[in-house]
Parts: sequence; C-alpha cells; structure tokens
Amino acid sequence: MRRSGRGFLAVTMAAVLIAVSACGDDKQEPSTGGGDNSKVEVFSWWTGPGEEEGLQAMIEDFKKKNSGIEFINAAVAGGSGTQARQVLTTRLQANNPPDSYQVHAGKELQSDIADGKVEPVDFLYEKEGWKDKLPKGLLEAITVDGKIYSVPVNIHRSNLLWFNPKTLQTAGISAPPKTWSEFLTQAETLKAKKITALSIGPAWAQMHLMENVLLGELGVDKYNGLWNGSTDWAAPEVVAALDTFKKVLEVSDVKSAAADWQPALDKVIAGTAAYNVMGDWAAGYLSSAKKLKYKEGFDAIASPGSEGVYNFLSDSFTLPKNAPHRGAAEKWLVECGSVDGQDLFNPQKGSVPARTDADKAKYKDYLATALADWQNPNTKIVGSLVHGVVANNAWKSEIETAFGLYAQNRDSAKFAQAVKTSYESVGK
Ligand code: GAL
Repeated sequence: MRRSGRGFLAVTMAAVLIAVSACGDDKQEPSTGGGDNSKVEVFSWWTGPGEEEGLQAMIEDFKKKNSGIEFINAAVAGGSGTQARQVLTTRLQANNPPDSYQVHAGKELQSDIADGKVEPVDFLYEKEGWKDKLPKGLLEAITVDGKIYSVPVNIHRSNLLWFNPKTLQTAGISAPPKTWSEFLTQAETLKAKKITALSIGPAWAQMHLMENVLLGELGVDKYNGLWNGSTDWAAPEVVAALDTFKKVLEVSDVKSAAADWQPALDKVIAGTAAYNVMGDWAAGYLSSAKKLKYKEGFDAIASPGSEGVYNFLSDSFTLPKNAPHRGAAEKWLVECGSVDGQDLFNPQKGSVPARTDADKAKYKDYLATALADWQNPNTKIVGSLVHGVVANNAWKSEIETAFGLYAQNRDSAKFAQAVKTSYESVGK
C-alpha cells in the first residue's frame, strides 16, 4: 500500500488535529522484558461472530510463535467496546491493567497518553523496522511529542450502507440511494412493501449513523470542521443535517432497535429491513461468520452522500504502564504489527491492513474494493467520532450524554448547542 498519502496526512492533520513533534526523540525506550513472561492477558471487545474469528486467527499465530506463553483472552462482549471500556477504566484505576489493550488510534488513544495509562513503544518500532511500514498519517494519530504509543492492526471504514440485493429486487428498487433524500424517497416504496427501510442497533450504532448522516449532508470540509471548531454546531445547516438524521431514524426500526450490530444486520439478511449503516466489520460477519457471498447474499456502497470518502478508524494495541507480563506483552505487540498477524486477522475481521506492505492477494471481494479505495490517492479520508478518531474521551462522553437526551426529545437545535458548549469546555 503506497498510502504514505498526502490525502491521509492532510486529513488527519485537519480533522484529528494531533500535535506531533515531527522529528521526535531519537532515544529508544529500553525493552525491559521484565515481569513474568509465562502468560499474556490481552483485552479487547472482539467476542462476537465476525470479530472473534479475526482475533482467534492472530492468537493462533501468536501461540505458534511463542509456545511457552499462555494466552489469556480478556475480551469483554459488546459492539464498539461500550461495555469493555467501562471494565477497562475500572481496572486501570485500580492499577490492575491487562498486558495489552485495544484502543482506537486518534483522540481516544491521546486521552490515554495524557492520563499516563500507556508507555511509548518506539523501541519496538525501531527493532521491528515499522516506521516506514505504516501510512504517515496513521503514525501521527498514534504519536504524541515525538513518541509512538500503540501498534495498529487495521484500518476500518465506518461509512457504509449494507444491503441484500434480493430485497431491493423484490421492492423494485434498481440501485441503493446516493443521497439521504433519495434514501427517504425509497423508504416510502419500501414501506408500501412492508419492508423497514433501515435497521438499527443500540445507542452507539445510532450515533454511528448520525456521524455518517452529518458527513453525507455536510460534506468533507464541514464534517471535519465539526471536530476542530471550524464548523459551528449551532449553524442552521448542521441543525438541518440533524433534522435529516431524525427523518432517517423515523423510517428505521429504532423503536425495536437490535441489541447489537450483528442482529441489526440479520434483519437485512432476512429481508425484513432493506439497509443498515455500519462499519466494514460487517463484511467479516457476513462473509466469515454467515458465509454469505459478496454481491449475492450482501452488498455495500458508501453511505449516502459520502462516495469517495473513507470515514476511517484503526484498532491498535498498547503497552499499559505496569503491565504485569511486560515481556510477553511486547511479543503480542510484535504479532499485531507483523505482516503475518495482520494478514491473518484482517481478512476475517473485515478490515484492511494498517501496514503498507501486506499481501494484497489475501484481500478479496468487499475487501479488495476497500483496499483499492483506501489506496486511491483521490479518496478523501476523515475520522470517526464513535470509533475514537476525532474527539477526546471527555468530549465524546459529553456528546453521548447529550445524544441520550436527544433520543428522547429529538430537539436537533438543543443537541447541537449542547455539543457546541461541551466542545468549548472539554473538546478543544
Ligand atoms: C469498533 C472497532 C471495530 C469493531 C466495531 C464493532 O469500535 O474498532 O474493530 O469491533 O467496533 O464492534
């Protein structure tokens, strides 16, 4: 992958606004290799079908290469890590960290760095020669004051509209919608056929939908501006985009929302709902776990209004301060950063590799298109709110609280004002 990319760099600089000292500190962090290396406890939220398979593939490879180390899979269930992060926070506060934990590249990781939860891992980058194997923009998203703090395993795309081609055929719809207004028109047709226009999952999945409606309605520059203060949340066009989101929710099954993202997709497979907006972990679920054929059993296009845009996020693993089995943790991170690890994990997970030198041939069907889009220099890259790229943890948590109220009162202007106010206090 030759995405050392101007595009990626420009966007992460604009949207993520990460302060990086470009040349950094040449001194390497020593590998202490300390602690008990008999086991390694790895924390993630990959327990569900589609996610578990990917993690398992990487664990198997790790075990093969590190036969003396017992692997403790400390994954906590729940899409997007909502529950897992609560458990992790409690553990970190009690100074009881796992040996490595999953965190998103970007502002989510930066909060952990600022809170002193993680150690720099530059020494591993030096040892493994990783620095020129990752896109420059991604490296910046995991760097603070010239030090690198995690090892990314993948790149996911958040802005996708999933559908079952047979359902569209049944409804007499020739192609999925390219704008949200076209989507709302199609929703009428679907309603007449007693098909729900959009299936939806829990609160985080509804916010995931919201970020992508905002992206589709506002376009790249204004969407980026939402996260760096240059777009006024209270501006009429943002409130209007939120009102579109409200209309989209009205034609969804939000009143009987699925408990997680997989059951929401199940409704699309079954044909009771036409569409679902979800990240491309859906591809892992639909092809690896459900064994459906791309273009036959399922298909996906960019969510309405976001063609040519990659709303990205990246899963990465850390070296927590006081990791009890630090030497083994380093070995896990080496697995995460390796070509082998990434090429075993990502084809199952529904993501493309973070590394630029992975084996392209391993990425087929949906993933071949994802990789081509990711590498296309004309693709515009923006960052996800829900999946940790563009907002620090404090601001994201305020947005979640405001979103909870919005779910009840559906007052777009009030919600926008609350997000704007919290940006001023904790989001900058
Ligand atoms: C994201 C994570 C993905 C996937 C998704 C759904 O936050 O980055 O890897 O796990 O949640 O659970």
